Order: sequence, then structure tokens, then C-alpha cells
Amino acid sequence: MKCRKCGGAAALELRRHNAAFCSPHFLEFFRKQVAEAVHRHHMFTRDEQIMVAVSGGKDSLALWDVLIEDGYQTAGLYLDLGIFDYSKESKAKCQAFAASRGQTLHIERVAEAVGAPIPVVQQATRRPTCSACGLSKRYLMNRAALQHGYPVVATGHNLDDEAATLFGSVMHWQTDALPRQSPALASTHPKLVRRVKPLYRLSELETAAFAFLRGIDYIVEECPFAKGATSIAHKQVLDRLEEASPGSKHNFLFGFLEKARPAFEKIEHVELLECTSCGQVTTGAICAFCKLADLVKRRTTG
Ligand code: AMP
Ligand code: FES
Ligand code: ZN
Ligand code: ZN
Repeated sequence: MKCRKCGGAAALELRRHNAAFCSPHFLEFFRKQVAEAVHRHHMFTRDEQIMVAVSGGKDSLALWDVLIEDGYQTAGLYLDLGIFDYSKESKAKCQAFAASRGQTLHIERVAEAVGAPIPVVQQATRRPTCSACGLSKRYLMNRAALQHGYPVVATGHNLDDEAATLFGSVMHWQTDALPRQSPALASTHPKLVRRVKPLYRLSELETAAFAFLRGIDYIVEECPFAKGATSIAHKQVLDRLEEASPGSKHNFLFGFLEKARPAFEKIEHVELLECTSCGQVTTGAICAFCKLADLVKRRTTG
């Protein structure tokens, strides 16, 4: 196999692009895909300060690396979920990365905001761990960005993540989730910051290869509350399709974004209010996060 760009020995084959690259040209390809995502969806400009939400995993650290190298103004945000050694180790990876690049890392403790670490929250809610965790992450990312004055939060969601989420929403016809599935969500309220996913054009395998080639030290272990069985099953189904027909995930996600999403976008009309308890944006009187914090308080003290 030869590199598509220079004809030298290829280090990596990308079947869905029907191409192979040597290491330097793969890094170039990867950075170009990020630049294309940023440009196409007007994610941010060079004048803006970008808050990069980093979990300590390969995707978000690879994203931070690309943005720093490209000269963007960035800072990291790590949300300490309080999940035993997993959180301690992932926080250490983020801190080491930030220090090695001379970047600021903001740290928010979920236990401080919700009243208990995620494992205790999970017991209090008696719902799948990831639902309370996901809610807390989205809320705290927005709150931290507002507090520190960042107009945009970037996450490390990749093509595999996005295709699997879309597949799950379509399987259950969660039509209210479809307009919100986008590489870039605009700010629709002064208290909502923009949310962007600059890695949506890159697969999980590609971000792993990038992180490896760049020598990024990331946490390999998954969260011990492994994602729900259905979301893993969805990823496996898509992996099988991809294996049989390279490009399936790409076509599924990109076809949705180009052809189907606009139809769902038109029918979404929600009025945004400010939570009477915390002041953050909500569709009801009290936001879901404050309800969660209240439930945790009652169940852990009662
Ligand atoms: P996940 O939902 O775990 O697949 O993570 C998706 C993205 O959310 C990651 O790429 C990060 O950008 C962000 N993220 C996940 N966990 C954290 C965390 N503990 N702190 C900050 N950002 C996170
Ligand atoms: Fe939220 Fe695992 S990262 S439950
Ligand atoms: Zn090459
Ligand atoms: Zn609230």
C-alpha cells in the first residue's frame, strides 16, 4: 500500500475514502477534516476563545491538540464526575496534557454541583447512570462556559458516536432529538453557548491513530458504568455494516445532515425560559438539573 499523497509506504488504510496515507500525510488529512468541519459549520473564529470539553480520552485530547497546533485560543474543561479511579486517572491525563501545552484547564466537580458524585446520583435516581451523567455534563459545560466567558464549547464526539446516536434516535423515532443532532448547535438564547463537534467527520479509528501518532497520553479504559446495552448494540450493528460496505456510517450520518435534518428542524418550536431556581435555560419552570439536584438531596439526606 502506498500513500495517496507522496507514494511512500502507507501507515494507514482508510477504506471508506478508498485511500492510504503515510504518517505525516495522515496527520495532515486529519487536520484538514477538522478545518473543513469548522469552516463548513461556522463553528468558531480565530478571535474567539474556545472551551474544549476534555474527558481524558483519545477523542477530546486529539481535538484539543489539533486546535492548539492550528493556533486557536483554547482552554480545557474537565468535569470531575467522582467515578472512583476512573475519574482520578482521567483528570490526571487532562492536567498533564494541559501543563505540557501551557494551556488553562478549568475543573468542575459534579459532586459540588449536584450534591453527590455520579455513583451516588445513580442510586438516588434509579435510572441508567448515563442519563443523569449526560444531563449533568451538558448543564455544567454550558454553565462553566458562561461563567468564564467562552462563547462556544467544543466536544470530541466523532463520526461513530454521531452515527450511533442517530441510529438510536431513528430506531425509537425520537423525532424531537433529530433537529438537535448536528455538528454545530447555534446559541438560541443569551444564556446558551454554542456547542460544536469538530471531529464529526472522523471515525473512532482515525482519532485513535491520530492520538497514537501524536504521542498523546490518554485514558484507554472506558467509564465503569459502561454505556447502556442498546447503545453498544447500535454501534456493533453499524460496525458490521461498515465492514461489509465501507462508508456506511458516513453515508448514514451525512445523508441525514444534508437531506433529512432540515425537515425536522422546521417543526421544532420551543419557548425557552430561565429556571426559577438557578437561572439557566429551561423549557419549564425548574430545569432538569435542579430537579435532579433536589432529588439527590432528598434521597441522600432523608
Ligand atoms: P462521551 O459522552 O463520554 O462519549 O463523551 C463525548 C464528549 O463529551 C467527549 O469527547 C468530551 O468532549 C466530552 N466529555 C465527556 N466526558 C467529559 C468530562 N468528564 N469532562 C469534560 N468533557 C467530557
Ligand atoms: Fe457518565 Fe460513564 S461517563 S456514566
Ligand atoms: Zn505520504
Ligand atoms: Zn435550574
